[in-house]
Amino acid sequence: MKKYRGVFLKNENEIAIMREANRIGAMILDELEKAVTPGVKTMFFEEICQECCRRHAVRPAFQGYQGYPFALCCSVNEEVVHGFPSDRVVAEGDIVSFDMGVVFEGFVSDSARTVGVGKVSDTAKKLMRVTKESLDAAIAQARPGKMLSDVSRAVQKVVEGAGYHVVRRFVGHGIGRNMHEKPEVPNFVIPGLPELPLQPGMVLAIEPMVAIGTHEVDILADGWTAVTRDNSLAAHFEHSVAITASGNEILSRSS
Ligand code: MF3
Ligand code: CO
Repeated sequence: MKKYRGVFLKNENEIAIMREANRIGAMILDELEKAVTPGVKTMFFEEICQECCRRHAVRPAFQGYQGYPFALCCSVNEEVVHGFPSDRVVAEGDIVSFDMGVVFEGFVSDSARTVGVGKVSDTAKKLMRVTKESLDAAIAQARPGKMLSDVSRAVQKVVEGAGYHVVRRFVGHGIGRNMHEKPEVPNFVIPGLPELPLQPGMVLAIEPMVAIGTHEVDILADGWTAVTRDNSLAAHFEHSVAITASGNEILSRSS
């Protein structure tokens, strides 16, 4: 595969496979969203996720990745990312982040969404809206002629403009045959980081993680689940986006 400054550039055929991988991933997220209702255990979502993967004849990308035990990351309220599906029951007013990826014909998909359980507070709604808007603003910058730092800056501006905090411990990433490829895609500007001009054929998983009270996270004893240090609510939205000659294409959409 061709490379630009260490970043794999995908050709049309490879993008077509990634489009299908991510379309399947997005359909699975749609199914998960439909299943959200007060009173269910988060393990129920893992079961749906596994069943969907079987039905679509894809392999869950996360399971076994650096020892991660599940197909799904399911993070509730103060959990930011990498939450384990468990016997935890979701209640009306909770927010749940689903993050999942599949492997299809050798390429990996990756996408995430946060959804409310039943009726949620205005605060929770605003957090989800701002996080989604920060992703949309980032995607608008993901095109030739822009630098990677423009993507990072767009997220940071929207999030901090709303008075929220960008989680710094985790970043977005290039994606392709491997889930994590170069470049890292931070959700904040890192002074002194060398600029990377965006090129057609790059595929980026852009994934703002936003918390109401602090950017700091702790990792629970399971070694994975990241929670906000102040236990404030967090949201996570992620799309896998291909840079094209004329702009970009969001791959992780179901229709
Ligand atoms: N979207 C996450 C990421 O890009 C999912 C990885 S979870 C893992 O890092 F378990 F697979 F590591
Ligand atoms: Co990702």
